Amino acid sequence: MTASSQDVLGRIDGEKESYLDELKDYLRIPSISTDPTHDDDVSRCADWLVGKMRAAGLDAERIETEGHPLVFGQWNGAPGKPTVLFYGHYDVQPPDPLDQWRNPPFEPTVEGDLLVARGATDDKGQSFAHLKGVAAVLAERGSLPVNVKFIVEGEEESGGEAIEAFVRADAGRRLACDAVVVSDSSMYAPGQPSLIYGLKGLAYMELRVHGPNRDLHSGTFGGAVANPANALAQILAQLQDKKTGKILIDGFYDKVRPLEDWERKEFAALPFDEAEYKAELGVEELWGEEGYSPVERAWARPTCDVNGLWSGYQGAGAKTIIPGSAGAKVSMRLVPDQEPQEIAELFRRHVERITPPGVRVEVISHHGGSPVVVDAQGPIVDAALAAAEDVWGKRPVRVREGGSIPIVATFAQVLEVPVLLLGFGLSDDRLHSPNEKFNISHFYNGIRTVARLLDRMGELT
Ligand code: BES
Ligand code: ZN
Repeated sequence: MTASSQDVLGRIDGEKESYLDELKDYLRIPSISTDPTHDDDVSRCADWLVGKMRAAGLDAERIETEGHPLVFGQWNGAPGKPTVLFYGHYDVQPPDPLDQWRNPPFEPTVEGDLLVARGATDDKGQSFAHLKGVAAVLAERGSLPVNVKFIVEGEEESGGEAIEAFVRADAGRRLACDAVVVSDSSMYAPGQPSLIYGLKGLAYMELRVHGPNRDLHSGTFGGAVANPANALAQILAQLQDKKTGKILIDGFYDKVRPLEDWERKEFAALPFDEAEYKAELGVEELWGEEGYSPVERAWARPTCDVNGLWSGYQGAGAKTIIPGSAGAKVSMRLVPDQEPQEIAELFRRHVERITPPGVRVEVISHHGGSPVVVDAQGPIVDAALAAAEDVWGKRPVRVREGGSIPIVATFAQVLEVPVLLLGFGLSDDRLHSPNEKFNISHFYNGIRTVARLLDRMGELT
């Protein structure tokens, strides 16, 4: 490593404990964006972050939106130098099921190298590493080698409409930059830094199947009236071919960009231990679309999954009824060039066609997001790769991911600059699950990577 960052890296080592304490404070705020009973917490969280940005020496403010506030911060004291825009989200997923947490989700707990709390990695821990990296350089030197901006949203986990509208209306004015850095993803393997160049999109649907006007005695009425739960099961069973794993919605694959040969080669060359993967997940066998490896399916092929399912009697013992209604949440993960609105429409038509007689089905389309493949090349990208290598001791691998960060496609389209998806998490971080964690060493390495990135980018002419 070059000597130039030693001053800052020394400071980061000296301040580790206080950075961790601040992150714990951040994690104590239950900023659950999807749940209106937590609106005040989301708002408080935005204020907390503005305070931290100001304390670091940034010019920071809350930007009100139709949804949850955005937090914007900037430091523009390096005229003529590149500007880096850091993106993250300060909202989190709901913590349920609560009884599966070892400790309460909003009381961050240290277990060895792990910091356990909702949001630890997704995305408070990772995005706070951006801020602390910048703060460390500013504190040490009183200036930065490049200009920086931060845009941190409060509703990534529940649709991200506010930031979408903001980025489009702003059209690259306040957000003008030379590169966007996003840390809201995982590394391919422990110790293996990774640059993600593709994320999936999402079309999220809800089905409500309506039958008789109340639950009925299943002996008296069974056989005479269609059962909404049976009907729903039939509909769901006709979304995907049970043998080939192909999605049966007409037109679903029309716009799917096939995997390129080089991608298939690169994915196949990555170490993947199927036995270990299965053991970690507690499954006997893997399953998915015929003709593709598990990695290809997860990263680059579209999927369709039931996310929630309800109907009828769920209590102890037996209750003989024909339920009056049934429902399901179904999401489809999309790949370029599928678009969520189009896919939602195809889904609606398919469901209308296959709905059995005797029930009425409502198809509701929830939030979505476009898939993206970014063109991660050029000197700025090289600088970021070098910064990651400085800290992790390995050159990052190029990978795709099955998760979605809806605003990334918009950044690429509107800002027309490289978007660097440089995550510090691990695949066993339990995102959206009980006992979410972030490795504390990854938090610190994330801070170091950001500090190195600023220096590496500052060296560009
Ligand atoms: N951080 C995740 C996305 C992610 C996870 C990217 C793992 C790469 C690897 C993000 O916060 C998330 O969960 N997004 C949602 C988006 C949705 C609600 C529109 C997702 O993917 O389910
Ligand atoms: Zn996230």
